[in-house]
Formats: sequence, structure tokens, C-alpha cells
Amino acid sequence: MAKFQNILLTGINGQVGYELQLSLASLGKVHALDRSQLDLSNPDNIRQVVQSIKPDLIVNPAAYTAVDKAEVEPDLANAINAIAPQILAEEAAKLGAAMVHYSTDYVYDGTKPTPYMETDVTNPLSVYGKTKLAGEAAIRAAALPHLILRTSWVYGARGKNFMNTILRLASERESLGIVADQFGAPTSSRVIAEATVSALASWTKDKSGTYHLTCGCVTSWHGFAQAIIEEYELLRELRHWPVLKASVENIFPITTADYPTPAARPANSKLNCDKLSSTFGLVLPEWRVALKQVMAEHLFKG
Ligand SMILES: NC(=O)c1ccc[n+]([C@@H]2O[C@H](COP(=O)([O-])OP(=O)(O)OC[C@H]3O[C@@H](n4cnc5c(N)ncnc54)[C@H](OP(=O)(O)O)[C@@H]3O)[C@@H](O)[C@H]2O)c1
Repeated sequence: MAKFQNILLTGINGQVGYELQLSLASLGKVHALDRSQLDLSNPDNIRQVVQSIKPDLIVNPAAYTAVDKAEVEPDLANAINAIAPQILAEEAAKLGAAMVHYSTDYVYDGTKPTPYMETDVTNPLSVYGKTKLAGEAAIRAAALPHLILRTSWVYGARGKNFMNTILRLASERESLGIVADQFGAPTSSRVIAEATVSALASWTKDKSGTYHLTCGCVTSWHGFAQAIIEEYELLRELRHWPVLKASVENIFPITTADYPTPAARPANSKLNCDKLSSTFGLVLPEWRVALKQVMAEHLFKG
């Protein structure tokens, strides 16, 4: 028997939303909504859609994720990342529904030398991080059964993400300088979706709370970029993918100061995931293993 009757899923054209649309089907009927069917910047639209679907579970991977652009669009980022989750949670609470929501390593300032625990003090450095933190708080305040899953460095075979950007740039340029002093765990959208479904399968209301959910081990953006090129090269001939202009040796380390961005990023994005494994028995694959799986699905678009 399905665990849920009606699952309302937002943001189905996003990286995580796309994967969730496929994997959540094992738990119940999924009402998969894109922006045209549910506009999270429109509070009336949110209320009306939730009231008409009457979900017993809302899963909300949709977000304003343009980290740098958020610095100049704080109101829109706040509407989508803070106010929309608040309304979703309030409407879900009225229906007695539960909610799964995604958050980010960017709620931390990255000054801690060791991996962050869920209980550590948050101190976002950017508008994006602040609005995501406000969204978390709104869900807790609505006092409904919930899971807030903080993940990091999301990428997948499809979508606008670091992996696809590196492959594009490496096809255009002979060398790349990539930030080597920010550390975190690249986490694939497929891994996030599958872990969400596994957690929900054994989920009960008493397991409500905030959890870190990332792939295992850590690297820098520079290390991730090198690994992307290496994995690409392993499959290139077999898949008849084009030769890249940049080789692994020509991916050079640079510092954050060398690559200034409008939004500040935490230097340490490492998240301790022990709570997820002790509560749900879930241990996610190491990031490099997940990268191999994602690269195997990659369709070169140049
Ligand atoms: N990306 C990362 O590196 C990262 C890291 C840590 C945490 N997270 C969190 O993980 C979750 C999933 O991220 P992701 O990488 O899958 O994001 P994504 O690929 O950028 O997708 C975000 C989705 O949100 C939708 N959306 C944006 N504004 C909307 C609106 N007004 N109404 C309805 N939908 C709207 C987008 O719709 P359109 O397709 O129409 O644009 C898109 O489908 C988010 O909560 C994010 O904050 C992401």
C-alpha cells in the first residue's frame, strides 16, 4: 500500500525536482508541478493549489538558487525561499500533512574547521543563505511533521550546474583556474532524491527535524573540476564524445580572492551526516562514486 495518498511536488524542472518526480512515485500518487502550475512567488496561487490538491505530503525542492543574483534580487529570493515555504507549511499544517524541504550548506559561515553538525550556529554570508535559513525557520514555526534536508554542491546529468559548466568551459579553453580553498561534498540530484525516498519510507512523525544530507568525503571546487575531467576522459572514446581543449593538468588552483563573486561563500561547507545515518540507517555514496554514475548518464552538449 502506498505510504502517502497525494504527494505535492514543486519545481519539477529543477535538478532535484526532476529526480524526485521519478523516485517519489514508489511512495504514492505524485502531483508534479512546474512553475507554470504553481508559482511560488504568488502566495494566493500557493494557497489555492494546496487547497485543491489536498496533499498529505508536500515535497519542496523548488527554490531561488541563483546565489549571486540574489544579492540584487533579495525580495524575490525571500519570496521564493522564505515566504513560499512558510505558506506551504501553514497550508500543510491545516490539512494535517507533512513536508519535506531542502536547504543548504550556505546557512553556515564556513569558519568552523571541522564538519558542521545540525546543532551548530548558523550565520549565512549571502542573501541566498539568509533566505534559505528563514525558510527553515518558517517550517519549524508551523509545527507540522517535517524533514528539512540540508545538502551541498548539487549537480546532475541535466541542468545548469558545476559539472556541466566545467565540461563546457573545458571544451572552449585550454586551461581553467578553479577555486581551491572552498571545501565541500558534491552531491548528485539522483542521490538526494533516492535518499529522500529511503528516509520517507521509514519516516515517522517523531523523526521530524533538520538533517544534513550530502555525499561522503570532501573536495575543493578545483578537485571536483579535475575529477570531472578525469571521469569524462575515461568514457570519452567509448561514447564518441569530443576531445576537450583543457586536460586535467591544465585545471589550475586559484583562491577565492582570485575569483570575486557578488555573494560570499563559506570556505568550509563540510556537513556531518551522522544524524541521517543513525536515524534512518542511510549512508550516502562517496562523491566520486556518485560522479561516476552521473557522468555515465552525461549527454555531451558542447
Ligand atoms: N544547487 C545547489 O548547489 C544547491 C546546494 C545546496 C542546497 N540546494 C537546495 O537544494 C534544493 C534543490 O536545488 P536544485 O539544485 O535542484 O535547484 P534548481 O535546479 O535551481 O531548481 C530550482 C527549481 O525551482 C523552480 N523555481 C524557481 N522559482 C520558482 C517559482 N517562483 N515558482 C515555482 N518554481 C520556481 C525552478 O523553476 P524553473 O525550472 O521554471 O526555473 C526550478 O525548477 C533547493 O532548495 C536548493 O536551495 C541547492
